Amino acid sequence: MITTKLPGIQACVFDAYGTLFDVNSAARTAQDALGENWQPLAELWRTKQLQYTWLRGLAGHHADFWQVTGDALDFALSTLQLEDAALRARLMNLYMVLSAYPEVPDTLRRLKAAGMKLALLSNGTPAMLAAAATNAGIADLLDATLSVEEVKVYKPHPSVYELACERLQLDASRICFLSSNGWDAYSAKAFGFRVLWCNRFGQAPERIPETPDAQIATLVELPGIVIA
Ligand code: LAC
Repeated sequence: MITTKLPGIQACVFDAYGTLFDVNSAARTAQDALGENWQPLAELWRTKQLQYTWLRGLAGHHADFWQVTGDALDFALSTLQLEDAALRARLMNLYMVLSAYPEVPDTLRRLKAAGMKLALLSNGTPAMLAAAATNAGIADLLDATLSVEEVKVYKPHPSVYELACERLQLDASRICFLSSNGWDAYSAKAFGFRVLWCNRFGQAPERIPETPDAQIATLVELPGIVIA
């Protein structure tokens, strides 16, 4: 049952990886080569990828998300003693065309039909985001695809979230931000967006500023919350 309503929302801005696109789908698709290692590899790859974004941000050593994703994959393959150039190339190619979660295309279509502006706001490079959106069949539904490459620092730096206000010409209070990554949802709320944490993985609440407006389990619940 939906109890939350967020009135006055004019745009929904989505995190990409883990929220719209299934970051585990690359390793899952390569299960024939990875065997039972596919899940440990997927988890380590993602964890290390995010760590590298934060470490590079703190140190002022920005490199784009394609580079960081490859570096994290190298770390994960090395840790699991799976180093192999062809396997690495295959996994990176799969990362360009990650599967969207099943409810994504229909949800975005419903929001668009109701007059909502839609955007991606992601660590991904413009090329990675364009490829994933096209592959998922949602590219033509998006009013903007915003990449941290415009500011050269990763989430959760406030200048990343500010990109959405600038590009959509909306006050943060008119934007509903969606992320499955708890740290991203909390940080976006601290920035000033209205925020729904799409807690796909049933994670515990974060202990950082500031608590999102509500949690949802999948994006299916979103239109009922933001459409009047
Ligand atoms: C992104 C990462 C945080 O898409 O999932 O920005």
